[in-house]
Amino acid sequence: MSSFNDRGELDTRSGLIIMCHGRKGSGKSVIGKLATMNYPGDRFILDVAGDDGPKGPGVIELGSVRVDDMPRRVEHLRPERGVPMTIRYTPDAGSPTHLEDMDAFVGVAYEHSSKEEPAMILIHEIGVVAPAGKTRPHMRRTLMHSRHHALTLIGCGPRTRTTEPLLRAQADLIYGFDTPNQEDREAIAKEIGWDVPAFCEAMDELHGHGYVRYDARQEPPEKCPAGHDPDEWARMHPDLRLTIWDPLPEDVVQRVEAWSANVPEPRRRAA
Ligand SMILES: Nc1ncnc2c1ncn2[C@@H]1O[C@H](COP(=O)(O)OP(=O)(O)OP(=O)(O)O)[C@@H](O)[C@H]1O
Ligand SMILES: [Mg+2]
Repeated sequence: MSSFNDRGELDTRSGLIIMCHGRKGSGKSVIGKLATMNYPGDRFILDVAGDDGPKGPGVIELGSVRVDDMPRRVEHLRPERGVPMTIRYTPDAGSPTHLEDMDAFVGVAYEHSSKEEPAMILIHEIGVVAPAGKTRPHMRRTLMHSRHHALTLIGCGPRTRTTEPLLRAQADLIYGFDTPNQEDREAIAKEIGWDVPAFCEAMDELHGHGYVRYDARQEPPEKCPAGHDPDEWARMHPDLRLTIWDPLPEDVVQRVEAWSANVPEPRRRAA
């Protein structure tokens, strides 16, 4: 088992928690937006800084409503029955209820998603939405019970240590981009139960926008039986939970950025 299906696509049917960590500009948002672009159901976008995508004519803008005015349901916003919709929320950073505002949007996504019709939420700047020790109720519920609603959550953020640790503890997938800060690396390694020096060694191998990927759903390799050479065994049975990846190809990055900057309206179905 793994977080991917036989075709190598994310298996989001029962909901996945995906975290993207790494320094500024390392490629977190691109991978988050790639997964969003390919997601088959309804998409919720929580854009904390207000300058990230996806946006465009195919995206329904919720604006900067505050917690009290947050719509409880969004089904009425769907332009056409049966066609997936994308809803983007850009919270007001000056709102006295900033954290509650954002959490209310997470709650909308959580309630909207179901096992029958799974949805996803992409959160840029997850550390602002779920700061360590201050995680709000809807986010906590999402992290504890995302499976019940099959909601997929993709969180991108550079500040590992100040972000709610539950996100990493509950993550099915972690994309670790270039992380120069040693303590941030250690925080990730410790929370996924990985040998810290081995994790740092994997990170040292990264170049450019490359990344390490940790897949918690992947089976660990069989333990080396007595009498076998452990090094030889490890070579023959690599641990596929942690893998090292080259940067996404340029054409893929360009396609994601172009889509994200200008999401087309969904194609109408023939009557
Ligand atoms: N594999 C790649 N190849 C080439 N360019 C890339 C690649 N991945 C990302 N980039 C480019 O690097 C820039 C930063 O990427 P991205 O927005 O994903 O960074 P980020 O980690 O989300 O940064 P921030 O913390 O500032 O949000 C973008 O212009 C993006 O197109
Ligand atoms: Mg980003």
